[in-house]
Amino acid sequence: MLYILDTGNLEDIRHCNAFYPLAGVTTNPSIIAREKTDFWKLVSGIREIIGEEKMLHVQTVQTTAEKMVEEAQLLKEKIGGMLYIKVPIGEEGLKATMELKKLGIGVTMTAIFTSAQALIAAKAGADFVAPYVNRLDNIIGDGSRVVAEIVHVLEAYQLDCKVLAASFKNAQQVHDCAMAGCQSVTVSADILKAIITHPMTDAAVAGFQRDWNETYGGQTILEL
Ligand code: G3P
Repeated sequence: MLYILDTGNLEDIRHCNAFYPLAGVTTNPSIIAREKTDFWKLVSGIREIIGEEKMLHVQTVQTTAEKMVEEAQLLKEKIGGMLYIKVPIGEEGLKATMELKKLGIGVTMTAIFTSAQALIAAKAGADFVAPYVNRLDNIIGDGSRVVAEIVHVLEAYQLDCKVLAASFKNAQQVHDCAMAGCQSVTVSADILKAIITHPMTDAAVAGFQRDWNETYGGQTILEL
């Protein structure tokens, strides 16, 4: 499982990159726009924090295949490192994906809502397909079931494409996707925190602290 952070907030990226086994960062035009800052400064800031080795997914804002490819090449040239261009599913997106693969540029096909869309995206050469779990759940579309179907269909046809499940609103949705065998998820900093949090864990840690302090009077192992 690859855990990726779905944000353009540099503070969250700095924090989560230090404290979690993060594989990279995903953005989209809405996420970038939310930061209300210079685009190039923001993406190079993200790259600086995560380094060249971790994945950075940046979405094209073009609407024709030709321009998507042109924009992807500029992004590749200016951001560098392990970069994936996010391309929304559609005729222009599929054409752009096939071109980008010829150029050796990584592609994440996004705005996926069905396993049929995911299958054709993978056939076009997408490295990742990004189904929107919570947006499906919002319309009783069973996001994690769609993710399970995509995992199954990619395996059945032995396609070299990973599921990058996205659009989460809680930790249960993420775990349901993990149980469905999806290879990567992109989540907010809050959801990462929710995944590791449990009241029984807090109680266990408090008990260790109390028992230790009763005997060793607050001294740590370093101080004994
Ligand atoms: O980046 C795509 C996805 O994570 C969007 O999430 O919260 O806008 O449904 P959301």
